[in-house]
Amino acid sequence: MPAEKSVLTIVLNDPDAELYARLIAGRFPQVRTIVALTPEYMARYLNEADALLASRFPIDLLEHAKKMRWIQWTGAGVDSIMPFRERIGHITITNARGIHGDIIADFVMAGVTMLHWNFRQLLRDQAERKWSPRFVAPLAEKTLGVVGLGAIGATIARRAKSAGMTVVGSKRDVSGLVDCVDRLFAPDALKEMLPLCDFVVLALPATATTVGLIGAAEIARMRRDAFLINIARGRVIVEAELIQALDAGTIAGALLDVFQQEPLPQGSPLWDMPNVIATPHISGSATNYAERVFAIFADNIERFLTGEELINVVDLARGY
Ligand code: GLV
Repeated sequence: MPAEKSVLTIVLNDPDAELYARLIAGRFPQVRTIVALTPEYMARYLNEADALLASRFPIDLLEHAKKMRWIQWTGAGVDSIMPFRERIGHITITNARGIHGDIIADFVMAGVTMLHWNFRQLLRDQAERKWSPRFVAPLAEKTLGVVGLGAIGATIARRAKSAGMTVVGSKRDVSGLVDCVDRLFAPDALKEMLPLCDFVVLALPATATTVGLIGAAEIARMRRDAFLINIARGRVIVEAELIQALDAGTIAGALLDVFQQEPLPQGSPLWDMPNVIATPHISGSATNYAERVFAIFADNIERFLTGEELINVVDLARGY
């Protein structure tokens, strides 16, 4: 569509940009889209954009975005833009929170099962044609703790409860009850929650208050037979201290989908620790991810066009 007839120009910077462009064309013919996958294209077209769809991109490029009023983030965590919040404070940021819960809960429950049954050992035994049966306690006798009960954490809590587990959780606002959570802890009571858990699942955003939340002292509060699962952000854990604890057997093991540095550096000991399952930041990667984002994005385009308040607005002061 020619620029002069469009009422809104959106630059699309995402591996699925072409798909988003088609979805937008089908529903909003009055909206002009520009697919800009490289920093060069971004630099060239951002000055025409009222809005941007993106997740990670060099934020410095926004200096070209003179009339940008809105950025739709394709992920949930916006921690990578927080260092620039002073510079982009005049732009409304909306994220994709609310679309990840079911797939991440699938991933977490698969991880709980693998860690609990020690599937890593079972697969090693199979490879060696070794027949070594053993007994395993049902999950219903176990306790799972969720740190961060937002949309993702709350879905994990429901799944764990449907497996019969006792579920505890921590959350910034503990004024109300949370469905399927047997006991709720305020963030400053995390140290009381940790010893209760057979599984501790981190499901909170990386913000100024949560970066480095789990270090040696917190891990020491966990039981020696407990497992840590991180589907949040690598920086929520002090990774070097976790590696030490896993090495020393302070806890039984971990499932890590996120890391301080991604891709996980080739030299990281986490790759081959026997009590670690390391995965490449995939827990929220549903096959229909772009369609899921588009449900929010389209709602927001509609709202932008009619001057209504956008949904999923990020509170830049809070960081999520
Ligand atoms: C993925 O990690 C996301 O923030 O959506």
